[in-house]
Amino acid sequence: MVRKALLPVAGLGTRSLPATKAVPKELLPLVDKPAIQYLVEECARAGLDDVLFVTSAGKATLEDHFDRLPGLEAALASKGKDEELALVTGLADLATIHSVRQPEPLGLGHAVLMGAEHIGDDSFAVLLGDDIVDPGTPFLERMVATHERTGRPVIALMEVEDEAVPLYGIATVEATDVDDEFLITDLVEKPTVHEAPSNLAIIGRYVLPGSIFAVLRDTPPGRGDEIQLTDALRTLAHDEPLVGIRVDAPRYDIGDKLGFVTATVSLAAERPDLGPDLLAWLRRFLAEQDRIGAGVGMSGERDQGPTT
Ligand code: UTP
Repeated sequence: MVRKALLPVAGLGTRSLPATKAVPKELLPLVDKPAIQYLVEECARAGLDDVLFVTSAGKATLEDHFDRLPGLEAALASKGKDEELALVTGLADLATIHSVRQPEPLGLGHAVLMGAEHIGDDSFAVLLGDDIVDPGTPFLERMVATHERTGRPVIALMEVEDEAVPLYGIATVEATDVDDEFLITDLVEKPTVHEAPSNLAIIGRYVLPGSIFAVLRDTPPGRGDEIQLTDALRTLAHDEPLVGIRVDAPRYDIGDKLGFVTATVSLAAERPDLGPDLLAWLRRFLAEQDRIGAGVGMSGERDQGPTT
């Protein structure tokens, strides 16, 4: 049974500056919850109750978010704010949180290697904070079940447009008779469209065997002089195919500024307490933009018309 998850949160978050100068990117809120909470809730739904954060200096607040806070709890209780109290205390029950430091950001593969002692020989999930998978779908549960069924490493894949291919690790795949499930025989990091073996990109969810640590120890620094998880997975894939599962749920790249905004709007729109009012406001906002002829097109380019 897979019970452990590793969440690497030691990166510099340079794409999200200046927001991430003093605040870890994983604590930036999507509506009213920090991104890291979506991930730990996703782990809890998939039965992963042992969560290891790989952190770095200045990120202790990530653990605080899942800790009890007696002063706040007492204040909420004395004011009769029971709903808020439940929101705060429930966080500590989601999972047991552990943490280990990555002394320097030497790459995602290096960050995962920091978990070797805690994880041991067990299989474990890796979730990257940049990728938020819509909470309404049991995607991680499916990945865990697939690992338990096949015994193979399982990687989340997403179909991308040609233009996006050079931004991702891309998988060489063989079809299987299970919907959205593939055998991965090779991986190519950020290929050109012409070099790419498919349009299936690796995204930030993995279920891996403990044997990955031995492979990572032997993996030399690769792209960007960092130890890359993709390079270690490639070594595994050459021994025996990995399993890829195509994500069938909305997924947001919140490490990208536009992705962060669209995730916020989409997640708020799904909420029964906020969605109807937000959508009504968005309709009025778009109508107003059209009316004044200064709408921002889907391409992101401002129309050439008058702005007043
Ligand atoms: P990214 O490549 O997105 O790096 O790492 P980043 O530093 O967070 O973000 P940008 O690109 O500079 O904006 C993917 C995941 O791996 C973690 C990051 O925290 C992120 O969750 N990571 C990356 C580490 O924990 N350590 C590393 O050395 C590198």
